[in-house]
Amino acid sequence: MTTTSLPARSRLEPEPVARRDFLGLSALWAAGSALAFATLGALRLPKAAVLPSPSRKYKVALPDTLPPGEAFVPPGRNVAVFRDAEGVFAVSTVCTHLGCIVKTGPEGFDCPCHGSRFAKDGSVTKGPAPRALAWRKVSGSGGTYVVDEGEDVAPGTRVKGDKA
Ligand code: FES
Repeated sequence: MTTTSLPARSRLEPEPVARRDFLGLSALWAAGSALAFATLGALRLPKAAVLPSPSRKYKVALPDTLPPGEAFVPPGRNVAVFRDAEGVFAVSTVCTHLGCIVKTGPEGFDCPCHGSRFAKDGSVTKGPAPRALAWRKVSGSGGTYVVDEGEDVAPGTRVKGDKA
């Protein structure tokens, strides 16, 4: 029987890691990494993936200098608000043909897409638009009004204005 002696090792050298210990440490490291990434993913969940759309009901402050019968289009909105002798009303600026946004002009509205024209009350004066522009609900008084783009009213419906 022969005995082989291992070479003497310095006490400063790290001990070699056994194969079984190495696999165990690798599995532990992988499990820890998976848990960390799962936690990071879960922390991201509460954030909304889609931004809420702006409210379709909003306040509009009519300028004091707005002449009667002239359109005021609130920035970023799809209505034209008018003040005349009978009150305040809002007309949608979404074309009834294919949905382009009409431009206000001295005679009413012009659609830049296919040339439809509308009077200031929203009625069609030139096709191809099949229907008049919708009138939107307006409420309030005192120069500040609430326009609800989600609610149509009958053409001619006005809220009493503070001046005309
Ligand atoms: S979308 Fe306005 S005329 Fe076609």
